[in-house]
Amino acid sequence: MTDPPHRIALVTGAESGIGAACALALAQDGADVAVLFHSDAQAAGITVAAIEATGRRAIAVQADVGDEAQVGMAFDETKRRLGVVDILVNSAGLNQSGVKVIDMDLAQWRRLLDTDLTGGFLTCRRYLRDRREAGIGPERPGRIINITSIHAHDVRTGAADYCAAKSGLARLTETLALETALEGVTVNAIAPGMILTPMNSRAIADPLYRKGLEDNVPAGRAGTPQEVGAMAVYLASDAAAYVTGASLVIDGGLSLVLALGA
Ligand SMILES: NC(=O)c1ccc[n+]([C@@H]2O[C@H](COP(=O)([O-])OP(=O)(O)OC[C@H]3O[C@@H](n4cnc5c(N)ncnc54)[C@H](O)[C@@H]3O)[C@@H](O)[C@H]2O)c1
Repeated sequence: MTDPPHRIALVTGAESGIGAACALALAQDGADVAVLFHSDAQAAGITVAAIEATGRRAIAVQADVGDEAQVGMAFDETKRRLGVVDILVNSAGLNQSGVKVIDMDLAQWRRLLDTDLTGGFLTCRRYLRDRREAGIGPERPGRIINITSIHAHDVRTGAADYCAAKSGLARLTETLALETALEGVTVNAIAPGMILTPMNSRAIADPLYRKGLEDNVPAGRAGTPQEVGAMAVYLASDAAAYVTGASLVIDGGLSLVLALGA
């Protein structure tokens, strides 16, 4: 009896934070991984080396996820060197600008929407087209995992760009779940709260600032990228075959207490 073929994962934003943790966790679970990075090739190389140390194959592919041609080239290279992607994780994203709408320029709005929303559209579309072109159906299950945020549901001042993009990504996730339900592709979101990554660099560098934020979290601490990676492994697994269109919140209870004090 021959071993089943290894699944192929493509993870965006995989040179940092949650994306890097998802890429490594999926490799530890047996996947070969395309590490899609934006500009830091050295950081991508660290993720690739960590994956290779698990015995799995890894390649680094560069793209701005908001650029259609670059996304196309990254998928072309992945298909050529690893194969058609089975598991797509969209982790690439920019943080909120901190600028109120009244002062936000159009370029900022577009930059965030391009990366955090259009990026997901472009990668999901290409992922589905590759499966169709290769004649892959439900016999080879597919998984799309979009990293949204609790801010897909809960808004905050100075984050209209981020909240709009993340709620758009959440709706894209649900729509795609309907469109692919008969094809063996599940499409789910992971909605993190406060996770200690470079996106929260101030919380990493400044213990007092971090404690102030962690005091708001019922669990009393920030989450780790590895905890998000474990959730991605679950959603990518056969055990999650009947989970689609879901948004799994991972926030230590933070989004449950937003109404306290009202
Ligand atoms: N850290 C948190 O507390 C938190 C909370 C909720 C949601 N998220 C989401 O998780 C995802 C990962 O964030 P993180 O915390 O790991 O932050 P991070 O800054 O460590 O990682 C973000 C990644 O996105 C990549 N990226 C940015 N613009 C890109 C572009 N145009 N094309 C390709 N890649 C691009 C960066 O290069 C980086 O690798 C993001 O979508 C973020 O919104 C993070």
